[in-house]
Formats: sequence, structure tokens, C-alpha cells
Amino acid sequence: SIRSSPLSTLAQMSNPTDLVEKAKKAAAFAAVDEYVKDGMTIGVGSGSTIVYAVERIVERVKAENLKLVCIPTSFQARQLIVEGGLVLSDLSRHSAIDVAIDGADEADAQLNCIKGGGACMLQEKIVAYNAKRFVVVADFRKKSETLGQQWKAGVPIEVIPLAYVPVLRKLESFGGKPVLRMAKAKAGPVVTDNGNFVVDCDFGLIQDPAALDKRIASIPGVVETGLFVNMAEKAFFGMQDGTVETR
Ligand code: 5RP
Repeated sequence: SIRSSPLSTLAQMSNPTDLVEKAKKAAAFAAVDEYVKDGMTIGVGSGSTIVYAVERIVERVKAENLKLVCIPTSFQARQLIVEGGLVLSDLSRHSAIDVAIDGADEADAQLNCIKGGGACMLQEKIVAYNAKRFVVVADFRKKSETLGQQWKAGVPIEVIPLAYVPVLRKLESFGGKPVLRMAKAKAGPVVTDNGNFVVDCDFGLIQDPAALDKRIASIPGVVETGLFVNMAEKAFFGMQDGTVETR
């Protein structure tokens, strides 16, 4: 028989990627189970955690014959809704959303969030703003006390392309370190679903996210920021030990 060696013990330990994926799934399933009810209009967020939320919504629609209408926050969300066989609508037909469920790059102790790691924050904010309830689903890496503690890439800011250079200069004058987000292959800037660019601006620890959000949004050429201040009523965090913590 093969005796346990340090190598086989290592192999038995959970791989960190599995832990994160399990945490995302646990958070997303818990949020859907608590918030989604028959007859609702649901705002469907964007990102990798939302994939699990849609998986659970699809399961429940089939098992419980729920009648739901889904409003996407991005092209990705639209595809998830269509591929899941869910009812796709938009804000013109369904402007009153019962609950919006979305991921976050970081959520602080007051549930203020940094969003936009996937460049979808403009539509995400519109949907969250028009939802009676906005809930966040995330893994343990996103939970913090103060914004800027966990998400080191800076605040995502959607910018009209022709204005990006003056916007970068203005953000520097605010004490930020802005960079234009480039596509992975460095073929050019990331272009959002709305045809705009994304600037990521590092401000270090953000003590007053409401003031910073207003200041950035006041720059001509800025369309929206990834600071979601005072919008979420609850956050579900999947933890490393498999449990779900809520705030
Ligand atoms: C996209 C977002 C996402 O919700 C955020 O980046 C979290 O994504 P993930 O669930 O993949 O960690 O704001 O713009």
C-alpha cells in the first residue's frame, strides 16, 4: 500500500481555485434562494459569480415552475439569460425591478462596493438603481472594512473615448493613479458594451466613497464610476470553510 507522503497530503488539499469557485457558488445559491420569488423581475448582474446565480435561477425555474422576467446588465448577462432559457426583457418594458443580484470586486463594512472589474458598471448601476433591492454575491476575497483594502486595481471609471486624456489628468490632480484599461492582447483599449473606454484609478484606501464618487462623476467625459455607494441592502460572501457569511 502507498503510505501518505507530504506530496500526497498536498494533493488531497483543496486547490485554491476550487475553494474560490465553491465560495462563489455558495454565495450565489444562497442569495437566489433567499431573494428570488415567483412573479419577480430580476436584475441579472455580470461576472463569474453571477454565472452560478443564473445556474440556480434556471434550476429553480424548472423545479418550481417560477415565472420570472430577467433584465441583463451586460452582453454577458444577456447571453446567460438566453442560454438558460429564461425570459429576457429590458428597462423599457420592465422598469420596476424587484431585486438585482450582482457580483462585486470589493464590498466594505457598510456594503459600499467597487464594481467594474468586468467593465460592466454603467449598466449594472442603472439596473441596481432601478431595483427595489440590490444584493451582492461574492467570495471571501472581496470582503473588506474599507474600500481599497482588497481590490488593488483601482476604481473602474467609464469614460467617453475622446475625453480620456483630460480625464486621466484630472484624476491625477485628485491624487489618483489612473491607467487606461488595455485589452489582454494589448491590441488596444478595452471597449465597454456602451462603446466607451475604462480608466482604472488607484486612490489607495477610500475613506469617503460617496465624496469620491461625486468628485469623479463631476468630470466632463466621465459616464459612470464603479463606486456603488449606499446601494446594496445585503452581501453574501462565500467563505473558505464552505459557509456563507452575510452583512
Ligand atoms: C463586472 C462586475 C463584476 O460583478 C465584478 O467584477 C465581480 O466579478 P466576479 O464575480 O467575476 O468576481 O462588476 O463589471
